[in-house]
Amino acid sequence: MTGSFRIGIAGLGTVGVGVVRIVQDNAALLADRAGRAIEIVAVSSRDKSKDRGIDCSTYQWVDSAQDLAGMDLDVVVELIGGPEGLAHDLVTASLKNKKHVVTANKALLAHHGYALAGLAEQHNVTFSYEAAVAGGIPIIKAIREGLAANEIQSVCGILNGTCNYILSNMRETGRDFADVLQEAQDLGYAEADPAFDVGGTDTAHKLAILASLAFGIKPSFDHVHLRGIRALTSVDITFATELGYRIKLLGMAQQIDGQILQIVAPCLVPVDSALGGVEDVLNAVQVKGDFVDAPVFIGRGAGQEPTASAVVADIVDLARGIQIPSLAIPANKLKDLDFFDVNQRVGRYYIRMNVSDKPGVLADVSAILRDHNVSIEELIQRARDADKPVPVMMITHEAKYGDIAKSVALIEALESCAGKPCVMRIEDAL
Ligand code: HSE
Repeated sequence: MTGSFRIGIAGLGTVGVGVVRIVQDNAALLADRAGRAIEIVAVSSRDKSKDRGIDCSTYQWVDSAQDLAGMDLDVVVELIGGPEGLAHDLVTASLKNKKHVVTANKALLAHHGYALAGLAEQHNVTFSYEAAVAGGIPIIKAIREGLAANEIQSVCGILNGTCNYILSNMRETGRDFADVLQEAQDLGYAEADPAFDVGGTDTAHKLAILASLAFGIKPSFDHVHLRGIRALTSVDITFATELGYRIKLLGMAQQIDGQILQIVAPCLVPVDSALGGVEDVLNAVQVKGDFVDAPVFIGRGAGQEPTASAVVADIVDLARGIQIPSLAIPANKLKDLDFFDVNQRVGRYYIRMNVSDKPGVLADVSAILRDHNVSIEELIQRARDADKPVPVMMITHEAKYGDIAKSVALIEALESCAGKPCVMRIEDAL
């Protein structure tokens, strides 16, 4: 390895600017660690004239990011985002031109990770994506390398900083959803379209990547059972707190009877558990392996600095000459996902509904639950109002998710029920 390690950066948004800052500010230590200088040769972004607070004057400005694929570079850093279009075209062309690629693009990985990992191997280069999952936590490296000795039973995490920030802030301050979401956007945590955060898609992208690494399967976003946090209200946050839980949007992948279950859903997590105390923009991932028990990795999961830190770590690895199959094993050995049906999953559930405060209403609700073999462990109705619906909260004994879902659909259809009931699994085993 001689000469500098030449990089081109596509996309100078929040993360791209962070990468430039780290490469400039930490140039000497990066050179020591990589064994050679990391040199930004070219950058590309939409608006050349925009003031980004960084000096790009010594870099070649490339108007069309696609041109980076044909330049004399060791690595193309793709920070454009999105599963298709320019990002996909640039990554594909760069790998075909025998350039390493580093990206933070979880959507690209979740949808095309298998094909792109294979393409990289075919051209003897590496497709790296540490920044795509859990920002500054080196969770890709941890699962792919640090835990390589283990058969993994489950991966479970808080993978979206924006949602964790919203849920923590709503609980601590009593502010409403939209207000806190706006703040998360202002802080640079949220996706360009924050519906991806609060709808759970961003978590599902990340979960599909982690499940691929953990279980040797092709990333399979389409088989993530997906629910976001939009249906939650301050009433749910209050009930959860009273019961000794925190509400967390969890991404969970686990082996059950030789099949893999992938779920993204808001869950009740004990406040004193490893994930229950993880607040604000922090992410956390718990991995259960057969020889390592259940290590938990915690850190900042979104924002310019931690995400850029992960991007630069990938660049340093490549400059050192480290090449590992992108998805832990050669792409042609990855299996198709054999998925476990979420309806068969057994657990305790929280159900909150808003119902008329009239005689017979709870009898109707409990008849539906009885008919679906769902038994109630606890029921709370605090408010009293003859004129408008009041919240009623139930905790069930262990039940199949399919039975809970069918019951809740029938409860929602009752004339006495206003709006959509909120259902959350209780995760006591974290
Ligand atoms: N919008 C993402 C989050 C950014 O909030 O976690 C990091 O992927």
